[in-house]
Amino acid sequence: MNFNEKLSQKIDQVEIILKEYLPKENGYQSRLIEAMNYSVMAGGKRLRPILMKESFLLFGGSGRQIEPFMAALEMIHNYSLVHDDLPAMDNDEYRRGRKTTWKVYGDGMAVLAGDGLLNLAFETAALAFDLAKNQEEMQRTVRALKILGQKAGINGMIGGQCADIEAEEGRQVTTQLLLFIHENKTAALIQAAMMIGAVLAGADEKSILAMEKAAYNIGIAFQIQDDILDVTSTTDVLGKPVGSDEKNSKLTYVKLHGLEESKEEVKKMSKEALSILSSFEKRNEFLEELVNSLITREK
Ligand code: IPE
Ligand code: IPE
Ligand code: MG
Ligand code: MG
Ligand code: MG
Repeated sequence: MNFNEKLSQKIDQVEIILKEYLPKENGYQSRLIEAMNYSVMAGGKRLRPILMKESFLLFGGSGRQIEPFMAALEMIHNYSLVHDDLPAMDNDEYRRGRKTTWKVYGDGMAVLAGDGLLNLAFETAALAFDLAKNQEEMQRTVRALKILGQKAGINGMIGGQCADIEAEEGRQVTTQLLLFIHENKTAALIQAAMMIGAVLAGADEKSILAMEKAAYNIGIAFQIQDDILDVTSTTDVLGKPVGSDEKNSKLTYVKLHGLEESKEEVKKMSKEALSILSSFEKRNEFLEELVNSLITREK
């Protein structure tokens, strides 16, 4: 099987896990649940759960304890996008080639769908306790939950989204602020993915920290590439509007450093991540190929 075949098989596995944990569209709140499922089941690269699973495998993890966390992180990622697209935030009407959640269900329901997904994420992650086979696995689950909370929260993704909004005013346009935004709004969830994979597999402290650093590099590169594609791609290929950053006067890597330097930075950061990933006792070839493929991703 070549890389793309393996990737699509892994995406299918993520979709199966997601379906297992997503709610049934019943009751007086069925419209809300429909909106949640609409957002999560719209496709997408499923990068974060795949990175989590592959990091788990890199450190010799086995068993299904990772699965509730894979679903939980993808729910958090999707909630962040549902809110990110709202008129009060980026005001975007397309994502993954179809109308955004607020466009289909209205602003109020989209706010609630985001809230619902965030809450469900922690309900789901907590189910990993039921799968723990011993005290050691219980403790790893506690640690993984803490990482999920921290990296998604005010010192992680939400904090980054805050700075992203404030930077629209252009008060202090510095590389330091830009890196803060990228590190938090984007790299933090990728760090959660790779650290939780390592933690649940029982990796040592040094390796967990190394994964945090590798994921930082992947995350920054990922957001720079996102900013590049916002300028160079088309809505058809990307599945979401191009020119969204310009429209919202966003502070992006491209705006500060131009396209060429941005492309170089994506390569440099990705190579740094790859050198970390190849430094452990064991190697995960697919994980390395995946990170490498992100350098030239077109969507
Ligand atoms: C989009 O994330 C938001 C960013 C952090 C740039 P993805 O590009 O991973 O979105 P999907 O899930 O594949 O649609
Ligand atoms: C969003 O960054 C990162 C999130 C935490 C949702 P963008 O606003 O650039 O993401 P896209 O381009 O809408 O996917
Ligand atoms: Mg945004
Ligand atoms: Mg956006
Ligand atoms: Mg973007």
